[in-house]
Amino acid sequence: MARKFLTWFALLMTISVSVMFYLILKDPQMRELKNLRVDSTPERIARGEYLANNLLSCVHCHTQRDRDDYSLPAVGPAFAGGDCLDETWGFPGKMCTPNITSDAETGIGAWTDDEVLRAIREGISRDGIALFPLMPFDAYRDLPDEDAYAVIAYLRTIPPVSRSTPATVVNFPMSVIVRQIPTPLEEPVPPVSRDDEATYGAHLAKIASCIGCHSEDVDDLAGGQSFPLPSGPLASPNITPDPTGVLPEEYDGFVRMFRKFAPENEATTAVDPEHLTVMPWRTLGGLTDEDLHALFTYLRTVRPVENAVQVYPADPEVK
Ligand code: HEC
Ligand code: HEC
Repeated sequence: MARKFLTWFALLMTISVSVMFYLILKDPQMRELKNLRVDSTPERIARGEYLANNLLSCVHCHTQRDRDDYSLPAVGPAFAGGDCLDETWGFPGKMCTPNITSDAETGIGAWTDDEVLRAIREGISRDGIALFPLMPFDAYRDLPDEDAYAVIAYLRTIPPVSRSTPATVVNFPMSVIVRQIPTPLEEPVPPVSRDDEATYGAHLAKIASCIGCHSEDVDDLAGGQSFPLPSGPLASPNITPDPTGVLPEEYDGFVRMFRKFAPENEATTAVDPEHLTVMPWRTLGGLTDEDLHALFTYLRTVRPVENAVQVYPADPEVK
């Protein structure tokens, strides 16, 4: 009996070890590249400019920012690569946001349109490496083809800036986990109708990562996700229509939260090294009224969840 048990045990161990090695060595799942050519039209470029600079916040991460200023103003050339994260930011390794201007050597100028598309929606780099999911490819997966093409058409108009960032290093075991995340996207992604405002708002909340940041374990928008900043922890507030949340009852109050940081209102920027944020106010502050209204309409319809979050837990007095 004992011997049989040992045999089983040994077998099980062998399987576990093989599975582990398989996962460690396995490439991420990815699809074949297609011969895609995104035509550039003025409408596409204009739409892509809005998506990359506002709704999808590409410019927020892919540009160096003054991290001592709450609203994170840009200090480097737009899209030429952002800041680096390391262990002081709670990152398991070291990662710098890459240059996505059209520079051929240090940016994405030499990438094909489908390589860029695959990176944005499926999280695979040009050389077949899984991107770290801080690049929100999971949220962008729902990006309709036309919007994704608009982003690519716009990125191609950004003048090349030569600025290289070091390659990403992700420590074990996170490196193994990261490689399992990408899932190929084989089917076309159709446009989302604006006819029903709440449905359209739900789509916006997904692709703009409101859901990703304002949820913890389930996608309920009840906040509580913690961001370990060097200035101390920060938690995302509850934006469900529950009294414990911060969602205003009226649209006016909601708009005001966003417009504070709109480009034309930069004078109101609070400079307060004690309180940093990860909420991309500068990009989202420039959302169209139409999109903000759809977001608000949707947020008012989500299930209220009771969850009182202290946004700055170390300093409950000040928000
Ligand atoms: C929340 C921050 C964030 C946002 C928003 C973001 N990115 Fe990224 N992106 C990253 C990070 C970080 C990486 C590098 C990941 C890695 O090295 O594993 C990256 C990688 C990339 C890459 C691969 C580049 C390379 O050289 O490997 C492309 C292309 C890209 N992003 C385009 C975009 C576009 C287009 C948008 C907007 C639609 C966008 N990103 C929005 C953080 C972000
Ligand atoms: C990268 C993470 C991140 C993303 C993306 C994000 N938020 Fe936030 N949000 C936060 C954090 C953290 C705070 C709290 C700190 C602050 O107010 O700046 C916050 C604050 C807020 C507040 C409260 C503002 C106040 O004055 O109390 C609202 C409302 C809000 N977010 C809505 C949204 C909506 C809507 C979206 C999507 C369009 C979104 N957020 C996207 C992280 C995020």
